Amino acid sequence: MPEGITTACYIVASILFILSLGGLSNQEKARRGNLYGIIGMLLAVGATLFNASVGNYGIIATVVAVGAVIGAVLASRVKMTAMPELVAMLHSFVGLAAVLVGYATFLDQTHPLEGAVKTIHDVEVYLGILIGAVTFTGSVVAFGKLNGMIGGKPLTLPGRHLLNLLILIACIYLGYDFIQTGSQTSLMIMTVLALLFGIHMVAAIGGADMPVVISMLNSYSGWAAAATGFLLENDLLIVTGALVGSSGAILSIIMCRAMNRKFISVILGGFGSSNGNGAKAEGEQGEAVAITGTETADLLKNAQSVVIVPGYGMAVAQAQQTVSTMVQKLINTGVNVRFAIHPVAGRMPGHMNVLLAEAKVSYDIVLEMDEINDDFPETEVVMVIGANDIVNPDAENDPDSPIAGMPVLQVWNAKDVIVLKRSMAAGYAGVENPLFFHDNTRMLFGDAKESIDSVVQGLG
Ligand code: TAP
Repeated sequence: MPEGITTACYIVASILFILSLGGLSNQEKARRGNLYGIIGMLLAVGATLFNASVGNYGIIATVVAVGAVIGAVLASRVKMTAMPELVAMLHSFVGLAAVLVGYATFLDQTHPLEGAVKTIHDVEVYLGILIGAVTFTGSVVAFGKLNGMIGGKPLTLPGRHLLNLLILIACIYLGYDFIQTGSQTSLMIMTVLALLFGIHMVAAIGGADMPVVISMLNSYSGWAAAATGFLLENDLLIVTGALVGSSGAILSIIMCRAMNRKFISVILGGFGSSNGNGAKAEGEQGEAVAITGTETADLLKNAQSVVIVPGYGMAVAQAQQTVSTMVQKLINTGVNVRFAIHPVAGRMPGHMNVLLAEAKVSYDIVLEMDEINDDFPETEVVMVIGANDIVNPDAENDPDSPIAGMPVLQVWNAKDVIVLKRSMAAGYAGVENPLFFHDNTRMLFGDAKESIDSVVQGLG
């Protein structure tokens, strides 16, 4: 394929990726956004494959076939609740690829470079490997934290800030040495340090701050891809990497705002885990009062306004379809039903919106936290479906709580609150929730799907 056509395909693919991101920022246009992304990706891969400089189609076909089969099997099997782990794992692949491409480019001496071009090339190799290595191990630790293999408690080594600073200084010095002398040893020491830094950085971040970590690693993987683009002299990879890098950075800032955290303090770690003061035993807080599905149905039927707060448990129970059926029944009988979505509900950005869209819930009754938080005092019944941390009043009342300062849905201001969960267990942040013991709270124990089924039956 002539070079001009490849370039034209790359430009069109870049535009499609930008349109895709634009589409994904709005639920109604998200499907179209996805389609643009798919077409852009097909175009990008096709144009790259048929580029004049690419040969060895036998090897490429074999590798693509193996990768496609593994990817298809994994994607079709993965549960919605395990999606963030899968994303973390995919980020780690981008990081690893950047490291491998960096080393391959470094070792490839077929076109020796001189002068300023060589210096620029060495900087690209160094940065590509540095960012890639941090992304790789950081994402592997994030994977472990998200699937529970590694605990949510932050690792707070003594003198950890000093340790990070020393690693940074060492990496700057090694970079200087590498660019001056081309020393392979400096490159390798930096790689080990960057790998260790990735582990330390994510291990130091507590469970409650994981949403920021996910978007941050998303951003890093974009920058790692952009660095790889420079090494491979592939403009499309540079553009795509920059798009992922900057959108991930914007998402990190949005997540920080949503959780009322400073980005820098999240990165420095040590937050987001119980320090022991937040948890009180059940007896100290009072008694939680249970309610049945039929009683819940009666409350809902007689209410004028109902707000539903979905959380991670709704995803675990795959209750979204049943919830949608229940909501439709209530709307048909004239009840004003709306959904309140917390920005970090579930385990990935937009998690609840995806589930509700899948269950064909109308977008106009799905409201963001800021849009609905003031309406709770005028709400008769709030149904908290498998949510916990995002409705925890201690975030506002207990400065020692690991989630202190995180804005939460103030469901307790409603007349009645019904919480659907299986037990009194804590949520992701591992903290007790005093909401369960409030006078106006009733607990509907059991798997959320089964509980909602019983409510739907009760509605008749
Ligand atoms: P959580 O605080 O994790 O609470 C979920 C609750 O659902 C649990 O208390 C659990 O209680 C219940 N549950 C689990 N399975 C259930 C089932 N089958 N049926 C009924 N209930 C079930 O979730 P949340 O309120 O959505 O808050 C999200 C948390 O995750 C925040 O701490 C957030 O920082 C963190 N996080 C978010 C993200 C993103 S980007 N959204 C990423 C990583 C972490 P039982 O075990 O008693 O049933």
